[in-house]
Amino acid sequence: MMDGYNKIQTMTEEAFDVVVVGSCMTDLVSQAPRLPKAGETIHGHKFFIGFGGKGANQCIQAARMGAKTAMVCKVGKDFFGENYIQNFKDNGVSTEFVGQTADAATGAASIVVNDAGENAIVIVAGANLLLGGEDLQQALPALSHAKVLVSQLEVSPDTSLQALRLAQENNVKTIFNPAPAIPDLDPDFYRASVVFCCNESEAELLTGVAVATVEDAGHAGQELLRRGCRSVIITLGSQGCVVLSGQEPSTGLHHVPAKPVTAVDTTGAGDSFIGALAFYMATFPTMPLQEMVSRANQVAGVSVQKIGTQASYPYKKDLPNNLFSRQQLAN
Ligand SMILES: Nc1ncnc2c1ncn2[C@@H]1O[C@H](COP(=O)(O)OP(=O)(O)O)[C@@H](O)[C@H]1O
Ligand SMILES: *[C@@H]1O[C@H](CO)[C@@H](O)[C@H](O)[C@H]1NC(C)=O
Repeated sequence: MMDGYNKIQTMTEEAFDVVVVGSCMTDLVSQAPRLPKAGETIHGHKFFIGFGGKGANQCIQAARMGAKTAMVCKVGKDFFGENYIQNFKDNGVSTEFVGQTADAATGAASIVVNDAGENAIVIVAGANLLLGGEDLQQALPALSHAKVLVSQLEVSPDTSLQALRLAQENNVKTIFNPAPAIPDLDPDFYRASVVFCCNESEAELLTGVAVATVEDAGHAGQELLRRGCRSVIITLGSQGCVVLSGQEPSTGLHHVPAKPVTAVDTTGAGDSFIGALAFYMATFPTMPLQEMVSRANQVAGVSVQKIGTQASYPYKKDLPNNLFSRQQLAN
């Protein structure tokens, strides 16, 4: 328990709206006519570097909507690490809890895309896997006073679970995104999140329920509720998502459709959705979850209309004013 002195000290810490414990990855993307075979060297026609990693993506979407954010992550003592830290600063994300290690390289995804749009990807999580309990302890003042904590599975699952538990002990709302999904997920994850948010394939892998329709998603969601989740969101691409809440069993299942848009690149749409949701949970804590989800659908729907991952994420100025209004929007 805290003594009086500590209490005064911690009360003077500035509280963050959203703290993300998660991954940073540098995407190294080459476009080529086809994918190379083993031992082969081919020439491509375009190369670019992008900022990715589910944790960082979600944090940056929340920051662009105006949330006061901090990222708890680990990068290498290398060029990509420095570059990523600058990217956080450029987006107004606090880097106080971004660690740099000499023991591994900044996480990287080497991606080759062919002219048919197919890809081959090698991910080296590197420094992300060195984020651990000590880093969480260092970030504890921020973590324990945050309005919302978000975590995923691109860092060590032990670290993600520990972050969720620390948040829970401090009455911080949590969003857990089990991505990429692992089949033998520790059952404590289901109980450690206020909102459990995944996509169709993740829901399917975790529950064994094949998810192709809204109805299927409802069944998978009910299974996740049985496992101890308080609220479940399953995103369904252009179909929006389904929301289930444990507290209201009779009326607890809602399909929240997405508005039709012309999608050009859906990479990172799920992360845009979760970043937006975190913003709403922190900024409008009493808003019904369905309303937040409907707005998060609209934010992610803007992101799919542009190419790129973070490059496609809208800022507050790019979004309709009513998405920031306290009043519930008519649907
Ligand atoms: N084609 C689309 N049209 C409109 N909204 C979309 C589209 N694709 C994705 N979205 C929005 O992005 C959210 C996440 O997309 P989804 O494909 O389910 O996630 P992931 O990126 O994890 O695969 C959806 O719930 C929806 O709000
Ligand atoms: C769900 O997210 C995973 C990443 O965790 C991705 O590989 C997969 O393609 C996504 N599934 C759908 C249906 O969008």
